Amino acid sequence: MYKHFGLQRLTPTIGALVSGIDLCAPLSDKAFAELHAAWMEHLVLFFREQALTPDQHIALGQRFGELEVHPDAPCAHGIPELMVIHTDKDSRRNNGENWHSDVSSREEPPMASILHLTHVPEEGGDTLFANMYAAYDALSEPMQGLLDQLTAHHDHHQSLGSWRLQYDVPSADHPVVRVHPVTGKKALFVNAVFTEKIRGMSWPESDALLQFLFEHIKHPEFHCRFSWQANSVALWDNRCAQHLAVWDYYPNSRSGHRVTVKGDRPLPTTP
Ligand code: SIN
Repeated sequence: MYKHFGLQRLTPTIGALVSGIDLCAPLSDKAFAELHAAWMEHLVLFFREQALTPDQHIALGQRFGELEVHPDAPCAHGIPELMVIHTDKDSRRNNGENWHSDVSSREEPPMASILHLTHVPEEGGDTLFANMYAAYDALSEPMQGLLDQLTAHHDHHQSLGSWRLQYDVPSADHPVVRVHPVTGKKALFVNAVFTEKIRGMSWPESDALLQFLFEHIKHPEFHCRFSWQANSVALWDNRCAQHLAVWDYYPNSRSGHRVTVKGDRPLPTTP
């Protein structure tokens, strides 16, 4: 089906493993267009045996668009756009251990993230991904109709816990259901890490509805699960997918780098 690589789905709903492509080298326009089309279809693409250098990782990200710097995470090799992902026996938290899309608290939340792990535990440390088109489609029509009208406030402070006062971090309002700018499909766009409140509702109403949605996206039929090896890469679309990094490998270590591609303002379902 594809000319420039092989592809194997992980589940019928989300995720595909791509083989026979070298991400360390520049992608031709035709290979990139085909890869982009596969990404739009599967939401998350996985690759094995990609020994990316920091510069190659940055160049790969820039193929998708302008890169952004994470508001509070450390960077590697003096490159602000190269975010460190690292957990070990001294870690007090694991980055991304609850369902989220990356930095949805920005006015223009990131379009894509590309994670390259260089060191993985012998067992565990998987990442789960969830399809937010499927989560929206599975709701009843009356619930879809309600959510289509709503806006929610996203706040980065929610994710920082006790560090919250040390950073000047983004916050923004977004439609609860966004229209993907490429596929035109509707995706649920609230998450447990950043979404604080539904505008126009009382706190109890908003908490109840958000809690229902946060539980709803946990249904396993929306998910795939990726088991990392050293030099695996994951490319995900933050506009229509959420992810969760499982911290089941303590006290072992897991490390790598992420680059994050700038996105645009989420489109509402109604003008
Ligand atoms: C993240 O970017 O949220 C971390 C994902 C992971 O470490 O698997």
